[in-house]
Amino acid sequence: MITNTELEYKGNLYPNHIVEFSQDSDKFYFTTANGVVLQITILRGSIIRFRYATNYNFEPDFSYAIDPSATMGYSKLEVVENDTEYIISTARLSVLVDKMTLRTQISDLEGNIICEDELGFHWEENYEYGGNTVKLSKITQSGESFYGMGDKAMHSNLKGKRVENWVTDQFAFAKEQDPLYKAIPFYVGLNKGKAYGIYFDNSFRTGFDFSQERRNITSFWADGGEMDYYFIFGPDMPKVVSSYSSLTGTPELPPMWALGFHQSKWSYYPESNVKEVASEFRKLQIPCDAIYLDIDYMDGFRCFTWDKNHFPDPKRMISELEQDGFKTVVMIDPGIKVDRNYWVYNEALENDYFCKRGDGPLMHGKVWPGECNFPDFTNPAVREWWAELYKEFMSELGVHAVWNDMNEPAVMEVPTKTAPLDTRHNYDGHPCTHRKAHNVYGMQMVRATYEGVKKYVYPKRPFVITRAAFAGTQRYSSTWTGDNVATWEHLWIANVQAQRMCLSGYSFVGSDIGGFAEQPDGELFARWVQLGIFHPFCRVHSSGDHGDQEPWSFGVEITDIVRKFVNLRYQLLPYLYTMFYKYTKENVPMLQSLVFFDQEDNQTHFRTDEFIFGEKILICPIQEPNAQGRRMYIPRGEWYDFWTNEHVVGGKEKWVAAELNMLPIFVKAGAIIPKYPIQQYVGEKKIEELILEVYYKEGTETSEVYEDATNGYDYKKGRYSLSNYKLTGKDNSLTIQLFKDGTYNTEYDKMKLSFHGLPFEIEKVMIDNEEVSLQTISVNTDNDLLIDKNFTLLHLSGKQ
Ligand code: NOJ
Repeated sequence: MITNTELEYKGNLYPNHIVEFSQDSDKFYFTTANGVVLQITILRGSIIRFRYATNYNFEPDFSYAIDPSATMGYSKLEVVENDTEYIISTARLSVLVDKMTLRTQISDLEGNIICEDELGFHWEENYEYGGNTVKLSKITQSGESFYGMGDKAMHSNLKGKRVENWVTDQFAFAKEQDPLYKAIPFYVGLNKGKAYGIYFDNSFRTGFDFSQERRNITSFWADGGEMDYYFIFGPDMPKVVSSYSSLTGTPELPPMWALGFHQSKWSYYPESNVKEVASEFRKLQIPCDAIYLDIDYMDGFRCFTWDKNHFPDPKRMISELEQDGFKTVVMIDPGIKVDRNYWVYNEALENDYFCKRGDGPLMHGKVWPGECNFPDFTNPAVREWWAELYKEFMSELGVHAVWNDMNEPAVMEVPTKTAPLDTRHNYDGHPCTHRKAHNVYGMQMVRATYEGVKKYVYPKRPFVITRAAFAGTQRYSSTWTGDNVATWEHLWIANVQAQRMCLSGYSFVGSDIGGFAEQPDGELFARWVQLGIFHPFCRVHSSGDHGDQEPWSFGVEITDIVRKFVNLRYQLLPYLYTMFYKYTKENVPMLQSLVFFDQEDNQTHFRTDEFIFGEKILICPIQEPNAQGRRMYIPRGEWYDFWTNEHVVGGKEKWVAAELNMLPIFVKAGAIIPKYPIQQYVGEKKIEELILEVYYKEGTETSEVYEDATNGYDYKKGRYSLSNYKLTGKDNSLTIQLFKDGTYNTEYDKMKLSFHGLPFEIEKVMIDNEEVSLQTISVNTDNDLLIDKNFTLLHLSGKQ
């Protein structure tokens, strides 16, 4: 056996043998002769935290990523010792710690090795900065696959890739380019049908190697800080992702309008231009809920100011737009213009809120307004100040939401594109340099924005968007994938990124539909809208350099296609809102990659294109020009073609026709999909009836519909309506049971049920065990039934 001492090469240092062991309730400490301490904390039966100190010395335990409200608790904990190892057992896992090397091996209770150290923890002293480069290597099991890691623009299965986390302003990024705008050091491994996750809680630049450098090795490392990671066991992927989400948090419900269609451009100005765009939406009857003001609304790019030439009376404009159903979203950047006549600058300067360089001068850099200083958002006092800056915008002017951009922070005209590494940060009382704070800088900015917006839009709900993000940022803000390009390849990237983000705990995500840089043609734009309406955040945005990118910019045919699909999104709003509810409440990602949906089916492990929207609708974007359709994989189970109602048994590839005005969409058999009538914006119409699209299945399936007042906080006092439907189909009957929870009384009284795939003709309808005449409830010859919303049992039967 090779000992760690023999492995001390190339400056790497390794723990040697354990000389001391102790337990302090849920924590175990293993100390080696050379001063390494491994702290193992049992958070839950299936979540275990591993932390390593060198020189006997742990840093203060502080993390921006971990949600302080995360609940913990385990039922069983035992430790035994033999000659060679310690063995810790929980109700789900067993962890071996090797006495000679401190290496660990994690197995499930059936003895399957789930995750095993190769060299395990090792480190290199960093003579330039102090501290260590901390590293850990694990054995890649044969056939193991890797997913997650935030916004990486690469194949969803990361096997064979090496990636880096350093939030970066990456204009017009390319496929495989890395790093991008987000740093989410979390991956899911899938090994012999069992999934686990590793969240490396370290905000320094981190790297991950998924068997690229060495074929059978997976490793990760950081430029400083501690080796501090959470091992999360599934064995099902949904369990891994939900546990990770419970550790790093999920957002509160957004206002429903935030799930509508949004239109943006760099930049709509002056006011008349904003109004023209808004009125065109209404004229052409293309639903839209929000319009975005990019940097040009500001006075010389000074945050929290208005260019009064272009926007003489923002309050009036915002209120007029609101009367027409539009919410106004404004951009705020972190760079504050160096200007002694600018109050925001002066306040920050007087209060010492700007970041400083190592030796004391203010950190400065160029952004849109020229020379800027940058607030240190890792200082709680700065965050409080920043939150207050939104008071006038939100409470007095009526701005509805805020968009934080350039918060990597992006700095122009320097090769690093960001702040110098010696820049100092407060880091909530743990002073450090930019090396440690860089990846969380944007997160802390948008956190402060969120607090301010939340306070000043009250009693409405806040909506905030960020470009930069670290693990946990999803608690505060939605996000978009940054400056993409109007190419077919970028349509592919947008699809992979959105799925990957959802798997990484960050569901409220979308891309710049149509592409930010360059100009799409009508076909690409239409195909991108078809994908974008199935992303949780749905916004067209473009650099505006190359022409217009509104739904009507590409001629009548494309306008009609865009309308058709945006209409569909608005019809599906109750479904989408329920998806969001399930994300916030049960940590269910809003989009599911096929491997997440069915990890036992090997066919799914390398699929990138198809995904499940919510839990019941299968989408497969068209990603090539001139397509009449495409081959796609239909996952196992029974499905219905959304357009034709064709019944399809999955587990196979299929050619699906999709002319430019179509997109392959399938609905899971047994699903009940709620729909609203098309509205031009959320709240335009009184919802007279809830439409339920019922897809027959032999057997049982459950569906949920969550509704509330669409905004405000009454739902937190129980004023919501959660309907649980249980569908049971037999040869000649169909039963739907409805269980309701919550005290919200929806504004409609009736539900219209449309049945798909019924193998019988409805002859008899029983509602709550009483027969009702078909004539009184049937809407048309298509078996559509209009019934009271308060039924508890609906039974249909008939002859086959
Ligand atoms: C960069 C952002 O990514 C983009 O969306 C925005 O339009 C420009 N900055 C200008 O503010």
